[in-house]
Amino acid sequence: MDFLEQLNGLPGKLDERLGRIASEAELEAARVDFLGRKGRLAELMSHMRELSPEERPAFGQAANAVKERLITMFEERLKRQEEEREAAFLAGFDPSLPGRTLWTGSLHPITLAMQEVCAVFQNMGYEIAGGPEVETDFNCFEALNMPPEHPARDMQDTLYITDKVLLRTHTSCVQVRTMMHRKPPLAIIGPGKVYRRDSDVTHTPMFHQIEGLLVDKHVTMADLRGTLTAFVRAVFGEKTRVRFRPSFFPFTEPSVEVDMSCTQCGGSGHVDGQVCRVCKGSGWLEILGSGMVDPAVFTSVGYDPDEVSGFAFGLGVERVAMLKYGLTDLRMNFENDVRFLHQFPA
Ligand code: PHE
Repeated sequence: MDFLEQLNGLPGKLDERLGRIASEAELEAARVDFLGRKGRLAELMSHMRELSPEERPAFGQAANAVKERLITMFEERLKRQEEEREAAFLAGFDPSLPGRTLWTGSLHPITLAMQEVCAVFQNMGYEIAGGPEVETDFNCFEALNMPPEHPARDMQDTLYITDKVLLRTHTSCVQVRTMMHRKPPLAIIGPGKVYRRDSDVTHTPMFHQIEGLLVDKHVTMADLRGTLTAFVRAVFGEKTRVRFRPSFFPFTEPSVEVDMSCTQCGGSGHVDGQVCRVCKGSGWLEILGSGMVDPAVFTSVGYDPDEVSGFAFGLGVERVAMLKYGLTDLRMNFENDVRFLHQFPA
């Protein structure tokens, strides 16, 4: 049989071979055998040299056509295999069954508490304001009536970056920033992270606060009282009792600490005859620091204390989250254990 005849016989041979193939490995072996570098087609083509110059063009053309044909045969075979695999796959399960629900993540309890507090104040007309976590000494202390060497600075264990730059110890810097850039009246709420050189069972070096500030003409302590009472009741329930205790902050005068009746024992100090472990028996929980903005603060941001007055407050978000969700250990908030996180709504 001459080479041309052998060449034209290849598709028939491959057809026969494909009929016997049962695995992907066998198919690959057949491909190498027919189309590989040392395969049947290559072998036949190597005889081209032995042909006369007149015979060569026809042989070349036939070789190309056969090659195309062989490739197509393999491709078709692969396609058929794929279709068969898919059909077998589809036959193996019920496509009308519902899918498995994957846990898509949920909001962190701190985020939830933050959103809830902000929403209460936004509903009262407050705007959200912000500022950086790395602050100047001026915004964090000096403008808030705490000059260098002032003993009140010791109330907040600060993480300094340089002498004049630090990680903000409270969100009260947001008050300063906002007043420096805007004219009164204003009502803002400033949620964010704050940092202190503090780490034990009840303190983490980073925690969250929400600052509030309202400045206008004729703002009084009665406004502070009404606003913060409404806030506490919106978050913890209408029956919650609120009390205002004299306190001290360098940037408010007078200053008050706001307590609310204990969420655990309702204010009695006892649960089932035992001393309440949330309020330690006092019936009260401290929830906010606040006061009337000190005239010295207004002066340092360029407001006239004879023209305007206002109140400010700051609250710890971890505290709100723990009370709202009944968390027993502050550290749960920062361990990112999915068994814990999983329990909060998305
Ligand atoms: N900045 C105070 C703190 O971190 C809280 C506070 C804010 C008190 C605003 C009064 C007014 O302790």
